[in-house]
Amino acid sequence: MKILVIGGGGREHALAWKLKQSPRVSKVFVAPGNAGTDLEEGIQNISVTAIPDLINFAKKELIKFTIVGPETPLAEGIVDAFRLAKLRIFGPNQQATQLEASKDYSKEFMRRHSIPTAAYATFCDPVEAHKYLEKIGAPIVIKADGLAAGKGVQVAMTLPEAHEAVDSMLISNTMGGAGEKILIEEFLEGEEVSFIVMTDGHNVLPLATSQDYKQLKDGNQGPNTGGMGAYSPAPVITSELHKKIIQEAIDPVIKGMAEEGQPYTGFLYAGLMIGKDGAVNILEYNCRMGDPETQSIMLRLKSDLSILVENAINGTLNKVDAEWDCRVALGVVMAAYGYPKMPRKGDIIHGLLEFMSKGKSEEGHHIFHAGTKMGGKDNKEIVTAGGRVLCVTALGDSIKNARQRVYDISKHIYFDGKFMRSDIGLQ
Ligand code: AMP
Ligand code: GLY
Repeated sequence: MKILVIGGGGREHALAWKLKQSPRVSKVFVAPGNAGTDLEEGIQNISVTAIPDLINFAKKELIKFTIVGPETPLAEGIVDAFRLAKLRIFGPNQQATQLEASKDYSKEFMRRHSIPTAAYATFCDPVEAHKYLEKIGAPIVIKADGLAAGKGVQVAMTLPEAHEAVDSMLISNTMGGAGEKILIEEFLEGEEVSFIVMTDGHNVLPLATSQDYKQLKDGNQGPNTGGMGAYSPAPVITSELHKKIIQEAIDPVIKGMAEEGQPYTGFLYAGLMIGKDGAVNILEYNCRMGDPETQSIMLRLKSDLSILVENAINGTLNKVDAEWDCRVALGVVMAAYGYPKMPRKGDIIHGLLEFMSKGKSEEGHHIFHAGTKMGGKDNKEIVTAGGRVLCVTALGDSIKNARQRVYDISKHIYFDGKFMRSDIGLQ
């Protein structure tokens, strides 16, 4: 069968790579993909990105089903359009995607369904927002309502920082339309985990747990990014806590969305804060898999992803189970100079092709590409083309061992301005 994956980041490289391992899959197309997917055997990039063109492509190529990686096409209604064209696709529809695309909608939904989350208030008027900040005090969290690629949240430890974040979003419009409305939210303490499930609208299949590192610099300093590294599983999630998360953070969404006439299908990502007392609070829902969590999760998945997704599309997710490698997977992102504010593009990546041919026989690691493309001399070199460039991912018997493998591999790869956190998996 032929499968289409929408997106061009590290998450989509990992999904396509995993799908292609199935003996049932003859070809995976990735739209638009990156240099990493371009170089994989049996995977082909296509430059088509507009939804009507993707529909034509899927029809012409007799694509068995399509998986959507990022949130933007979901928010644009790609699932609705494919379904209307009688094409099989895995993801939530446009309305259900509001759970991620509007933080205000998401918080209201959580309130309606008694899902535990931080207290908050919504503002469009900066004067009112400043008044509220003075009333509540710091630390406090300021969030842009709309989609901001993981960069729309400011955790302010002091009031001046908080006031500045409000002005930056509501007055200077640094987040564009996404920041025309903001949420000011209670600051929560605890350990953050990513809990991702697949759902067919009724049944839920939890994927392996994971944790990611959102801040740019070591010691969780610096601005929030889309994610600088991750590992799976998350040791903090005991089997008891796992059950509690399903009960409090996942089931109410599936049930609530169905009750509201918007059955939720696709990947559902709950960003959770686990308190010292074991309390579960939802920081956010995402309507997709996490990046870079996916890279670690896919490296551990032993089951055939194409079978899991087909069952999810058919509404028979209760008939399948996912099997996981019991080892730890860890991934570290190599970012471009200037990430996240103004990533520089076009730097030549050295050592990658050599490492890929040399390291091929070694089991249990993979370098997933994100912002890369073919370029340079004769179009034969790999160059940076985005903020997060690569995610070096490896399995190990322990976090320490996986971490060692990842940083050893990373030494072989170099580009001007290469930046990685050095403390992923260290705590
Ligand atoms: P979000 O996009 O809402 O997940 O926020 C991005 C990051 O900001 C989260 O991963 C947390 O690290 C942090 N964050 C968000 N909301 C809160 C909160 N209420 N309290 C503390 N940290 C938060
Ligand atoms: N790594 C966080 C996210 O994908 O939203």
